[in-house]
Amino acid sequence: MKTFNLFLLLLICFTGLSAQQLSVNSLTTEHKTNPIGIDAAQPRFSWKISATGNNVMQNAYQIRVATNASFSSSTQVWNSGKVTSDESVLQKYDGNTLKSGQRYYWQVKVWDNKGRESKWSQTAFWETGLLSPSEWKAQWIEFNENTDRYIPAPYFRKEFDVSKKIAKATIYATAHGLYELHLNGQKVGDQVFTPGWTTYGHRLQYQVYDVTKQLQNGKNAIGAILGDGWYRGSLAWSDNWGIYGKNLGLFAQMRIDYTDGTSSLIVTDDSWKATNDGPIVKNGLYFGENYDATKNLTNWNKVGYNDSNWKKVSIGNYDFKLVASEGAEIKKIEEIKPVKIFKSPSGRLLVDMGQNMVGWIRLKVNGPKGTEITINHAEVLDKDGEFYTENLRAAECELKYTLAGTGEEIYEPRFTFMGFRFIEVIGFPGTLTADNITGVVIHSDMPTTSKYESSDSLLNQLQHNIIWGHKGNFLDVPTDCPQRDERLGWTGDAQAFFRTAAFNYDVAAFFTKWMKDVALDQRKAGEIPFVIPDVLNPQGSETAATSAGWGDAATIIPWEMYLVYGDKGLLETQYPSMKAWVEYIRNKSGDEMIWKGGSVFGDWLFFHPFVNDHTTPDGHTEHDFIATAFYAYSTNILANAARALGKTDDARIYDELFEKIKKVFIREYVTPAGRVGTNSQTSYVLPLMFNLLPDELRAKSAQFLVNDIRSRNTHLSTGFLGTPYLCHVLSDNGFTDVAYDLLLQKTFPSWLYPVTQGATTIWERWDGQRPDGTFQNPGMNSFNHYAYGAIGDWMYRVSAGLDTQSPGYRHLLLKPHPTQKLEFSKATFDSPYGTVQSGWERKNGKVIVNVVVPPNAKATVALQTASNVTEAGKPLSANTAISAVQSNNGKTQFEIGSGSYVFEYTEE
Ligand code: BGC
Repeated sequence: MKTFNLFLLLLICFTGLSAQQLSVNSLTTEHKTNPIGIDAAQPRFSWKISATGNNVMQNAYQIRVATNASFSSSTQVWNSGKVTSDESVLQKYDGNTLKSGQRYYWQVKVWDNKGRESKWSQTAFWETGLLSPSEWKAQWIEFNENTDRYIPAPYFRKEFDVSKKIAKATIYATAHGLYELHLNGQKVGDQVFTPGWTTYGHRLQYQVYDVTKQLQNGKNAIGAILGDGWYRGSLAWSDNWGIYGKNLGLFAQMRIDYTDGTSSLIVTDDSWKATNDGPIVKNGLYFGENYDATKNLTNWNKVGYNDSNWKKVSIGNYDFKLVASEGAEIKKIEEIKPVKIFKSPSGRLLVDMGQNMVGWIRLKVNGPKGTEITINHAEVLDKDGEFYTENLRAAECELKYTLAGTGEEIYEPRFTFMGFRFIEVIGFPGTLTADNITGVVIHSDMPTTSKYESSDSLLNQLQHNIIWGHKGNFLDVPTDCPQRDERLGWTGDAQAFFRTAAFNYDVAAFFTKWMKDVALDQRKAGEIPFVIPDVLNPQGSETAATSAGWGDAATIIPWEMYLVYGDKGLLETQYPSMKAWVEYIRNKSGDEMIWKGGSVFGDWLFFHPFVNDHTTPDGHTEHDFIATAFYAYSTNILANAARALGKTDDARIYDELFEKIKKVFIREYVTPAGRVGTNSQTSYVLPLMFNLLPDELRAKSAQFLVNDIRSRNTHLSTGFLGTPYLCHVLSDNGFTDVAYDLLLQKTFPSWLYPVTQGATTIWERWDGQRPDGTFQNPGMNSFNHYAYGAIGDWMYRVSAGLDTQSPGYRHLLLKPHPTQKLEFSKATFDSPYGTVQSGWERKNGKVIVNVVVPPNAKATVALQTASNVTEAGKPLSANTAISAVQSNNGKTQFEIGSGSYVFEYTEE
C-alpha cells in the first residue's frame, strides 16, 4: 500500500513537472533581444525550447503580437493561431501593417512530439523605427566656424518645456561624424561611436533611445557633442580626411507621448545654439584626443546653463538615406587594471595593461591647474624593453589632458580608440599607481556564444588570443587591425575569419549590416572594393580595384551566415550581389576561364624565409591560380545558394559553370601525378578545399601537401587565404595527426609561436617579433590582426567535433577527433536551437565523448573507433534516442535526438 502511495505521489509530481518541463526562452527579433528601432516591415522571430527528456521536437507553435504587454484582444495585431510546424528560427511576422515608433510585444508557445504544451513564453518586444522618410521633421544643424584639418569638437544645446504628463519619450538621432547625446545632465544611452560606420554615401544609421525616465516635467535641456569619427576624420593612410564631408552635423528628433494621447516633437533646428570653445580641442580616430579641462563647459547639458555666448547653428541640407541601426551596438564592454607600472631602461614611465586591448585609458588624477599629461600607446616593447610605436605608422594614438585643478579629475576620451597593451605616461603629477589607470575595452556588443577548452595551456592561450583579436577588430565593421593608420573593413580578412567569429560570438546582426554595405559599395560591373565601407576610391567612383579572396567575401559570408544561422532571408537579400560578383569574374576571365590578374594580394603574408636562408622554399602561390580557384569556389557557392533559394535555373547554370572552371583548372594547374600549382601549401589547400581536383588525385595531392609540411620540419607556409583551410584539408584527407602537429607547433611559422612569446592577441605576421626580439617590417606589422585566428574554426569543428550538416545547426554533425597529444578538447556553442556541446577526454585507456543536442535539433555522431561504444555505460541499443548505428572503416556512426549523452570506447 505504502509503495502504491509513493508511486502515485511520484506520478503526480512527474506529470505535474512534465507539463512545466517544456518551455520557451531566448526570444529574439531579427537576431536581437528586445531591439529598439528596427525598420523591417515583417520582422522575424526566433525562440529556443527547454525540455526534459530525449528526442524532443517541436510539433507546433503559436505567436501573438500586441501593442500592449497585456495582450488583450483589442491590442493584438497578430495571432498566428496554432501552426503545425517544427520551425523555431526566423519565423516571419504576418500581422497588421506595423506602425512607426511603436513598441510591439510578443510571446510564443509550443507543442512538442511528446504531447506537451508549453505555457506562453516570457514577453519579448521590439520597437519600430521611423518607417517613412516623411516622419523626419528634424533639420541638419551644423557649426561651421572652422573647417581645418583638426577642429575642436562642437557642442550643441537647447532647452525646452514639458507641461503635460509624460507617457513615453523617444529620441531618434544620427550625425555626420560621431555624436554623444545628452539629456538633463546625463549621456543618453550606453552606446559609443554612434551612429556607427556605413557606406555613408548610400546610407546612414540612426539610433533610437527610450528616454522616458530621463525627461522631466517642466524645463529640460538636450545637447550633443560631435567628433570627427569616420565621416570627417582621417581614414586610410596618406592623410586622407574629410572623405565623406568636412562639416559635422547633428540630426535628431524626440517624440514625447503624453498620457492624454497627444504627442509633440523636439527637433534639431535653428533654435539650437552651439559652441566650439569647449575642452575637446582636437580629436581623431588615429590621432587620439587633446582635452583641456580648463575649458570645461560645466553643466552645459543641464537646465539653466548660461549659453549667452554660444552661437546660432547653421542649417545643412543633405539627401542622406537614413536607416535604423541593425548591427551590434558599440559599447564599453569591460574594464581591466594595469598589471605593472615600471620605468623602461631609458627611464620612460610605462604601464603594462597585461592585455593587448582596444579602447582607451580612463585616467584619475589630482593636480595643479594647467598641468599637461600625455599618454602614448604601444602594443609591444622592443628587444631592449623600450616602448615601440613604429608599427603604428602615421597614427599618433596620443591623449593629452590638461588639468582643471579642481580636485580629483576623471578623464576618458570619447571620439578615438587605441589598440595597445602598454602606455607611456608623461607629466603625471605625483606618483602614478594602478588606481590612476583603468583600461576601458570597447567593441560591438555581440552575445558570447561559445567556449573552447583543451588540456594544453598554450592552446587555451591561443583561444584567448583569438577571442581578443575578435573583440578588438569588431567595431561596427570588421577591421583588419585597431592600432595603425588603417582600421578598415578589409573584405579578405573578414571572410577568412567569419566561421571562427561565428563561434566566438553571435555575429548575425553585425554581419547582416556589413554585408548590406558590401552590396551597396559593389560597383555596377560587380567588383567588390578591397575595403567596405570603401574609402580607398573616390566616393561615387564607377569602378574599384578588387582582388580574389577579398571580393569573395560577397559570396562566402552570406553562404556561411546561412550555414550558421539558417538565415535564408539574408541569403535572398545578398543573392543579387553574390551573382553580380560571379558574373564580374566570368566577364573578366571569359571563355579561357582563367582569371588573369584577378589576384592583387595573392596569398597575403604567406611565410617568406629569411633573406639569408637559401634552402627553405618560400610558400609562394601563383596569383592567377588563386584567382581561378576562388572563381570556382564562388561559383559553387552561388549554385548552392540558388538551390537553397529554389532558383533552379541559376543552380543549373552555375553548377555547369563550376564544372567548366574545374576542368580548365585541372588542365592548367594539375599534373597527372597530383602535383598542383607552384607546389606551395596553398596550391594544395585551395583545390582540395574547393573540390577542384579529380577524385583519383586527391589522396596524392594531399600527400604532396603533407610532404611539404614535413620537409619544413612540420611548419606551415600559408598566408591569409590558405591558412583558414589548411587543417581542414588535412583532417578531411586522413591527416588529422599532421593537423594537430601544426596546431601544436611552437616554433614559427605557427599559431603557438606568438603564444610562446607572450602574445595576448593574434599577430598579423607569423614572425611579427622574432625569437631574437627583432621585428618584422614596421610598415605591416600589427600585433592585433584576427585573420590567422581562423584556426579557431578547426578547433571547434574538428578537434572538439562540433559541426553541422544542415543550415542553422539543425542537424548537427558531432565528430570529435581525439589525439594522443592532448588529454581533452571540448566546446560548447549556443546554436539557434540552444546549447550544443561536443568534446572528448582520454582517461585510463578510454575515450569519453560528452555531447549535448538541444531540443528541436538532431545529430549524427561520428566516432573515430571501430571498437564497442557504450552510452551511459550501456550498449548503444539500450538508448531509444539512438538509431541507425553503423560501424565500418574504423568509424562508428549513429543518429541521436536531443538530450545529453556520454559515450565511451577503448582508445586504440
Ligand atoms: C591589411 C590587411 C589586408 C591587406 C590586403 C593590409 O594593409 O592590414 O589585413 O587584407 O592589406 O593586402
